[in-house]
Amino acid sequence: MNLDFKIIDATNEIMRLHKIKPKIGLVLGSGLGEIADELEERVVIPYKTISGFPLSTVEGHKGNLVFGKLYNKSIVAMQGRFHYYEGYSMKEVTFPIRIMAKMGIESLLVTNAAGGINKDFNPGDLMLIEDMINLQGSNPLIGINLEDFGVRFPDLSHPFNKEMKKIIIESAKENNISLQRGVYAAVSGPSFETPAEVKMLRKLGADAVGMSTVPEVIVARHSGIKVLGISCISNIAAGILDGPLNHEEVIETTNKVKKSFKKLIKETIRNI
Ligand code: HPA
Repeated sequence: MNLDFKIIDATNEIMRLHKIKPKIGLVLGSGLGEIADELEERVVIPYKTISGFPLSTVEGHKGNLVFGKLYNKSIVAMQGRFHYYEGYSMKEVTFPIRIMAKMGIESLLVTNAAGGINKDFNPGDLMLIEDMINLQGSNPLIGINLEDFGVRFPDLSHPFNKEMKKIIIESAKENNISLQRGVYAAVSGPSFETPAEVKMLRKLGADAVGMSTVPEVIVARHSGIKVLGISCISNIAAGILDGPLNHEEVIETTNKVKKSFKKLIKETIRNI
């Protein structure tokens, strides 16, 4: 079945189970999925029950599409996302974003855990993603253009929405949550970077590095969805400190900051 039909089928299937059209999409990264448990009037649809959906294989990632409300705004949240390194194609990685677009979301909040490259960053910092660098070696829009969604050559001069950036900066200030700002570089992973790669990424202008987010943002922007991105700096990138990196550290740090992370996301949603 071609991609258009797969997207339409899955969207119809979901809308049969949950009739309310969401306005805001949320993509929740490693260890950051808990916020979806706090939505009101929650309806949880496991990915495995939706035809065409891939399955999340990473520890710390649940596999649910969660509908609900926050401050009376209808939300759809991805509790767990798909990564290129899991072996999924870019089309599979971004399939849920296509569905969110089909359901009519206007804004998308994308979150992730990332390694800090900027030497002023500390584990546990939250970073507003000002811009991004795609180093994953592919692009989810390669192939026949889905004309119903957007143009062949979408503009990415403003990948992240100016108004939404203002809102999160204000929300952080009002709630005394410190918020770094920077450029997110996406690599394919799954191996962490070498020290030389981290040096290179710093020279390229990256402040943080991760293995996700960029494909989702590209597909959302293709459909004209307004995007906001937040990284949780879960560790200092390789080679800056001496110690080895591991996924447990990533989860441990995201667990530590999840309270302020949740507060910031909720307040931002309230003010959108
Ligand atoms: N590198 C790449 N991806 C990551 C990292 C990192 O250091 N931390 C969390 N995701």
